Amino acid sequence: MSKTATAIAHPNIAFIKYWGNRDDALRLPANGSISMNLESLYTRTTVTFSTDLRNNVIKINGKKADNATEFRIKDWLDDLICYLYHKKWLKDAPGNVEIISENSFPTGAGIASSASAFAALTLAVFGALGIEADENVLSYWARHGSGSACRSIPEGFCEWARGSSNEDSTAYSLAPASHWDLVDLIAVISGKHKKVGSSKGHWSADTSPFQEQRVRTAPERIAVCRQAILEKDFSALAEVSEKDMLMMHSVMMTQEPPLFYWEPVTIRVIKAVREWREEGLDCFATIDAGPNVHVICTSESAPAVRERLEKLKGIREILSSGPGGKAHLV
Ligand code: DP6
Repeated sequence: MSKTATAIAHPNIAFIKYWGNRDDALRLPANGSISMNLESLYTRTTVTFSTDLRNNVIKINGKKADNATEFRIKDWLDDLICYLYHKKWLKDAPGNVEIISENSFPTGAGIASSASAFAALTLAVFGALGIEADENVLSYWARHGSGSACRSIPEGFCEWARGSSNEDSTAYSLAPASHWDLVDLIAVISGKHKKVGSSKGHWSADTSPFQEQRVRTAPERIAVCRQAILEKDFSALAEVSEKDMLMMHSVMMTQEPPLFYWEPVTIRVIKAVREWREEGLDCFATIDAGPNVHVICTSESAPAVRERLEKLKGIREILSSGPGGKAHLV
């Protein structure tokens, strides 16, 4: 007997960043965060459970997953299966699992592939087992795989609530993708795997003297960002997002061991984008745990910003995306 399902999920770019956990094992975030799904990038994952499979198989982008990734996925899946038995949503042992996952974008360079990966995986597992769960449950399980993945479950612009417990820290949609036609121009500076991934970074965020201050003031930035999105106030969104990104990287650079993700070209892009904004172009820069710069623009400014980005030296490629929909079964 085999059961199968395929799901697609988009990565997301955070305007207010998730950095550090109050519980690392549960991926309970130190602060809430806000992001936008990225429509033109995606992870597509097929999950098959079968009693005929002799082993578990996990393939990512055509290759067998490395041991650390395999362990992370297996550990997460064991917890999820236990939960499903406990809820009585699952009655029979599903057998071994085959997971085939493909990304449409470079893995491990700050375009959060773990977000779309765990969002697609969560949906495909529930789909393959024939269990219909609400968005909150899906977001909860995606979060347990990778924190930012909970924001790739709902539609468009999403807020991940800090929550007061394991149960209520999930993401919900603030506005659908059609609400605001922002464009993310991703200046790809390196497609290489980062040396230190975000999971390890979160564990030591508290060693930075600036983390406490960043976390304490996050609710103010969340409120400004939420309102800026709802009112489509680009300048407010630009100011608060750039500031929040700089605060997160200040923490990263000052934690033990320090994480310095920027390359010289990263700084060149940040400074250029700030100048272009002063000249009147709607654009701002935000960066995750990698050197690539996401330049967020209004659709009116996007062609001019792209033209200018193309003239900057050191950018390997520019990817472009509008706001994306929710994770879905195909
Ligand atoms: C810098 O969600 O990748 O992109 O939970 O360990 O998988 P894990 O971390 P992850 O952290 C993302 C951090 C960030 C900021 C953000 O997306 O909010």
